[in-house]
Amino acid sequence: MVILSVVGTKGGIGKTTLTANLSALAADMGLRVLMVDADIQGSLSKFYQLGKNADDGLTSVVISGRVSESAISTTVWERLDIIVCDAPRRKFAGIETTDLEQFIQGRIDAPMILRKALRSPIIEDNYDLVFIDTPGAQGPLLYTAALAAHRLISPVLPETPSAREFRTGTFELLLKLEEAQALGISPGPLTAVINRVGHTNDARQITKEIRDSYLEMRGLVTVAETMIPASVAYNEAATALLPVHRLKRRDRGVTPSDTMHELIWELVPSLSGVYAGGYEGGSQSEGGER
Ligand SMILES: Nc1ncnc2c1ncn2[C@@H]1O[C@H](COP(=O)(O)OP(=O)(O)OP(=O)(O)O)[C@@H](O)[C@H]1O
Ligand SMILES: [Mg+2]
Repeated sequence: MVILSVVGTKGGIGKTTLTANLSALAADMGLRVLMVDADIQGSLSKFYQLGKNADDGLTSVVISGRVSESAISTTVWERLDIIVCDAPRRKFAGIETTDLEQFIQGRIDAPMILRKALRSPIIEDNYDLVFIDTPGAQGPLLYTAALAAHRLISPVLPETPSAREFRTGTFELLLKLEEAQALGISPGPLTAVINRVGHTNDARQITKEIRDSYLEMRGLVTVAETMIPASVAYNEAATALLPVHRLKRRDRGVTPSDTMHELIWELVPSLSGVYAGGYEGGSQSEGGER
């Protein structure tokens, strides 16, 4: 079981979109996948239709420090489950979830809460891959979600201010996470994914800037070879409640499905060469098109 947290210190860079699309693709490739919505905004919780809508969600996990079956919802996609962010409507053990960040902050074991809850038999036995979506601002929820992960993924937009923000923000985040070393835990390595590359963006320059700051970032940051083009398909798929690899669309010869396949092969090497729906080089998957 591998836990990947999708992080960033900036809003609107594509964290939720990436989490939802990679999760559904991995599930379509045959892995048992759990998504965890650790952002109070709850965007990931609304990304796909749910199958079984569980009574509980993130609140119970954070407050009780464990995942019970009643916290896991299913989605309409096979092998894809989710722990929804039930804030702010839920109360658990008398605690309102609007106070979730405050609750975490007040705990001595704050950085360990999600790590302990997710690296547990119920998750180990039932899932191959866990994707955690996180808030776009630094805070206790982001820290505990980031420290739960074996590896971190961070979208970065190919614009110079954004790359600078990535460098300073991510460096700050990594420094913050390193404080947990006092508790015997280290943050996992971080892979930056250049997202929303347009015609005019000099993505190569940004990639170089990030690569140049590799040492400054404690050698913990690498840049994925696969870059995600800017495409309305990501928005269209989200509006249609579909994973983008199931959407029939081609932009300048590349389908979002091609891009997502390449990216997941890079991020999860055990999936290398596997196609959604299980068709080698396949053009048609069970539920949609590549
Ligand atoms: N490759 C892409 N091309 C075009 N649009 C994209 C791409 N990736 C994401 N988007 C769009 O960018 C917007 C922001 O994406 P998303 O909500 O995933 O960001 P976020 O980092 O999760 O934001 P927040 O910090 O608010 O949680 C959405 O409208 C999404 O459809
Ligand atoms: Mg989001």
